[in-house]
Amino acid sequence: MTLTMRSTLGEVYAHPVGHDALDKVLLQVGRSPRWLTNPVVSRLRLSTLATLARRVAPPSFFEALLRLLNSEPSRYEDHGPGPRAWWKEAVFYQVYPRSFQDSDGDGVGDLRGVIQRLDHLRDLGVDALWLSPIYDSPNDDNGYDIRDYRAIMAEFGDMADFDELLAQVHARGMRLIMDLVVNHTSDEHPWFQAALADPTSPYRDYYVFRDGVDGGPPNNWTSFFSGSAWRRVPDGQYALHLFSGKQMDLNWENPDLRADIAQMVRWWLAKGVDGFRLDVINYISKQPGLPPGDPTIGALMGFTGVENYVYGPRLHEFLRELRAAAFEPFDAFSVGETPGVGLEQATLLTAAYRRELDMVFSFDHLETPGHTRFDDYRYDLNYLKAYLMRWTRDYPSSCWMSLFYDNHDNPRMISKVNPDPAHREALAKLLATIQLTSRGTPFLFQGQEIGMVNQRFTDISQVRDVESLNLYDSLLADGQTPQAAFATVLAGTRDHARTPMQWTPDEHGGFCGVEGAVPWIEGDGDHRFCNVRDQAADDDSVLAFHRRLIALRRATPALVYGDVRFVEARRRGYLGYVRALDGEAYLVECNLTDRPQPTPRRHARLEPVVGSHGTPLAWLRPYESVVYRVLR
Ligand code: NOJ
Repeated sequence: MTLTMRSTLGEVYAHPVGHDALDKVLLQVGRSPRWLTNPVVSRLRLSTLATLARRVAPPSFFEALLRLLNSEPSRYEDHGPGPRAWWKEAVFYQVYPRSFQDSDGDGVGDLRGVIQRLDHLRDLGVDALWLSPIYDSPNDDNGYDIRDYRAIMAEFGDMADFDELLAQVHARGMRLIMDLVVNHTSDEHPWFQAALADPTSPYRDYYVFRDGVDGGPPNNWTSFFSGSAWRRVPDGQYALHLFSGKQMDLNWENPDLRADIAQMVRWWLAKGVDGFRLDVINYISKQPGLPPGDPTIGALMGFTGVENYVYGPRLHEFLRELRAAAFEPFDAFSVGETPGVGLEQATLLTAAYRRELDMVFSFDHLETPGHTRFDDYRYDLNYLKAYLMRWTRDYPSSCWMSLFYDNHDNPRMISKVNPDPAHREALAKLLATIQLTSRGTPFLFQGQEIGMVNQRFTDISQVRDVESLNLYDSLLADGQTPQAAFATVLAGTRDHARTPMQWTPDEHGGFCGVEGAVPWIEGDGDHRFCNVRDQAADDDSVLAFHRRLIALRRATPALVYGDVRFVEARRRGYLGYVRALDGEAYLVECNLTDRPQPTPRRHARLEPVVGSHGTPLAWLRPYESVVYRVLR
């Protein structure tokens, strides 16, 4: 059914894209979805709403919304649960190679460094590694700007090092997935260079070039890394870059480009790589004609133009084509990074029968309502609970959820929840308990296994990330003081997660392979108190806790495929659930607050299996988490 201005809000909410879009708006304005399902509101026509809301939402808002809705004609069909798979049972571990282990003393982590640390990962119990980009790159965005998809970044080593890494990973019974960055390439990629050198080159159409309008860029879209999303090239046209001015968006409408990408993916899979994480993959299809971004949506989302590519009209088609051409012949795994995608859209992207992606990373849980990453606020874990409950209930059984908090694009979760060092260890264990016993596939990020936290950066000169540096400059340009601009950067900088992995209490945490070497980004000295070596020798450590939980998950099918039943679901500050399969059941109990609270009444005999605070008591201590076996 085509939606028009005569459609009702209820009809919009019943549409998968409408559902996700309205949920986002409700979240931002702090209203419950129940507000929309009330009969009076749900019968409102869009045209009436447009009249009522004309001060806040101009007609262009509704046009943009309808365009987005009508580009998704399909609905989820229930084909039953998806099959069991290795990637549903696996614990993944993300390696950010630049900051993991430097083997040669140039201050930059490298592939030989990763090889040196593989036994740590094996001992931790992880099943698969996700390697952030290691391809040849001028490093404007630490490798997410690729110059050559088939070569290794010189700072990281060479192809022989990569082949050895892959062999060593496999020899330990683990798997390896790579990062596939195909929404854009570096402006130094030969395709872009050819497109620049000759506007009639076939490679010109591999990118998004347009004429300017009235002496300015072709439209009002903004970049995620500040400023316009358009860069003027010497021949006078503009080229699109949703990220930095050196990350040029590819034109997926071009079939030759798509064929080249599929061929490159097959090339890596033929080497034996087990799959890919697909960078901002929901952005690859742009609305034809690149319509201007609606200012209301721009203000709401923080970026202008997003509605024209966050879930573009040919996204599903492109993904199906890529999967059939490259992933399926190798039975390879795919997880899409899909910022802005909600549960209903995620369903259409990952339902097994639709053969698009195996999983996605949803980001809906990373900030609580009304907040963005650059706000300095305390994250309320009740929101994480609500998110988990909603996805557990509504994400269909043919889909499979990813579970993560930290990655290279976000400050550390422990610090967001409660930066008080007194709670650090308990919180690290609590987050691990939830992540490793919920239904879905856990993705740990390096350092999480020892409870790494945000860095106490004190000056902008310590910050390296292009996003942060551009933001800082643009805040200064807007008239903010350096102190205010730095405070904003400090709240959300991605560099919190990019300081060197803390291996030992020694200089730079044992990150540099050669004495006297200096890392490309420096940590704040926390490695003296928090590092792998010390924690490996301590049975109560965060590391030991992770090892125990991962081993338990591995040995317990109920923690992977079991049903989930929430206990005392309405009790704030408490998260409890039972995972059950084939007569085996586990109860997980968590105190989401920094205050003690009584445990709920028991209806079964319980045997504690893993707990954050030793033997459980009749009440839960601050941030305590316990996994019990339920005895019949
Ligand atoms: C998402 C990546 O995770 C991030 O690090 C990068 O800056 C953007 N995509 C652009 O590739």
